Amino acid sequence: MDPQEMRSQVERQLERGRQAFSDAASIDELEAAQSTILGRKSPLGDVQRALGTVDDVEERKRLGRVVNEARTALAEAAASRRAELDAEAEDALVSADRVDLSLPGRRPRVGSLHPFPLIEYEIVDIFTRMGYRVVEGPEVEDSWHNFDALNIPPDHPARTSMDTTFVDVPGHPDLVLRTHTSPMQIRTLESQEPPVHVVVPGRVYRNEEITARNMPVFHQVEGLVVDEGITFADLKGTLETFFRELLGEERRIRLSPSFFPFVEPGAQVDVSCFVCDGAGCRTCSFSGWLELMGSGMVHPVVLENCGIDPERYTGFAFGGGYDRLAMIRFGIPDIRLLWDSDVRFLEQFEVLS
Ligand code: DAH
Repeated sequence: MDPQEMRSQVERQLERGRQAFSDAASIDELEAAQSTILGRKSPLGDVQRALGTVDDVEERKRLGRVVNEARTALAEAAASRRAELDAEAEDALVSADRVDLSLPGRRPRVGSLHPFPLIEYEIVDIFTRMGYRVVEGPEVEDSWHNFDALNIPPDHPARTSMDTTFVDVPGHPDLVLRTHTSPMQIRTLESQEPPVHVVVPGRVYRNEEITARNMPVFHQVEGLVVDEGITFADLKGTLETFFRELLGEERRIRLSPSFFPFVEPGAQVDVSCFVCDGAGCRTCSFSGWLELMGSGMVHPVVLENCGIDPERYTGFAFGGGYDRLAMIRFGIPDIRLLWDSDVRFLEQFEVLS
């Protein structure tokens, strides 16, 4: 390499290096370019090694200075590009961290109460305010509590009309899924002396077909009051107060004779329709009345079965399903919706209070 060639090579490398450093898009690219341009095996390195072959001392010194100045200039160019890249990386970090106050917030998903507990809480709340105690009982019952003690003997037609589901447990031939909440009348009176005021919400089971209005599992609420001097007027006043609290001050109730083995006399409880206020609509089948409960004065045999003296104590009982109430109240056309656990359905019943 003659001195002329060495000078032009240095020029070229200076040019090439500046370009490569400013093109580097990352620290890695920059370092790679530095080693290509300034490394030992670079063309600049070749020029440096060739210096020794220049005989003219003055010329050798001049060339040496040219190479050194080029190296210094390139090193500065690389350093300033590095500073730029570092600053860019820093900016990226900061903006990744930055809170954008204009972004819409994330709404936390709030759970909702299912219509069954919604209605149930309303019901038991009313009775709690009237001084009742809320109790719950087993869903697997023995036939004594579900039937016999309630004055429903084995051959009684009420047994078959209830479409009982039997539970097959070896050694326990008489287990059933309770067909109503009335067995809790017995369990309560077995464990507590009068005065008794209890209300019992819960699931009950009947082996029925699944339709838009029927499920083999549904909900009932039972009430029981036993004390000295309890009369039919107490029953009537209690039911009227309850239904007015639940369904509106304008509601009227109607009691008509009916038969249930565990009460005497027994009465069916109708409430004026809260959709049409008694005028007649599809909900009440144009009768103006909704049949919502069975009730009556506790049968003396039931009291005796629980070791309570029917000469001294009297009581009333009532019971009925509230799934239909939930359907009317929330405008639910098909009861199966209440068992599907579809979140899109359930989240419409947000708890607002
Ligand atoms: N247990 C009855 C049923 O499921 C409803 C009932 C009727 C409950 C009369 C009562 C009552 O407490 O007195 O059909």
